[in-house]
Amino acid sequence: MNKQMTDLAEIIISRRTIHDFIADKFPDKKIIKDAIETSRWAPNHHLTEPWHFYLLGKETISSLCELNMGLLTESKGIEVAEKKIKRWQSIPGWLVVTCERSDDELMFQENYAACCCVIQNLMLSLWEKGIGTKWSTGPVTREDQFYDTIWVNKKLESVVGLIWYGYPAEIPQTMRKPLQQVLTELP
Ligand SMILES: Cc1cc2nc3c(=O)[nH]c(=O)nc-3n(C[C@H](O)[C@H](O)[C@H](O)COP(=O)(O)O)c2cc1C
Repeated sequence: MNKQMTDLAEIIISRRTIHDFIADKFPDKKIIKDAIETSRWAPNHHLTEPWHFYLLGKETISSLCELNMGLLTESKGIEVAEKKIKRWQSIPGWLVVTCERSDDELMFQENYAACCCVIQNLMLSLWEKGIGTKWSTGPVTREDQFYDTIWVNKKLESVVGLIWYGYPAEIPQTMRKPLQQVLTELP
């Protein structure tokens, strides 16, 4: 890494989506709560603070695994479902971030944007402590039963992400396009 890089740039650039966690190493809940506290300083238009965090316990995690097991068995067959659920059961930490809905389309769009900022803040705060995350928006997160399991009223809140967290077993590599492909300088 470039020595002149600031600490913040280093954290932003080095953060990766983690797919494999150390199954039996559980991050301290205090670290997670501190990261949630920090993340809430994300920009949010009209100070709506549209986010809500749900830290899931064993019982809820197990219910979600069961729910997805049923859905996957139906759509992809028992073998695929069993393999996937085994992976799910080994993920140490689960939290869900929701966004307050609004009848005003622009308000909801801006609320969603603010929630994405909060999630990035959260992921970076955890990464700084060596904790990896995966932001998931798989089909199960849109199911009515998913909302019921986490005790969320689907009419009032929308799931922005199921965030898995834990200490990384492996840190993948990824790429970004060259800057000139995404940057246009106007006169
Ligand atoms: C809104 C959103 C939804 C995502 N949903 C998923 C998902 O369902 N499954 C997944 O494997 N990764 C998901 N990701 C993570 C991206 O795949 C990941 O950020 C991308 O591959 C770039 O890798 P990096 O995070 O390591 O830079 C999601 C990311 C965002 C921002």
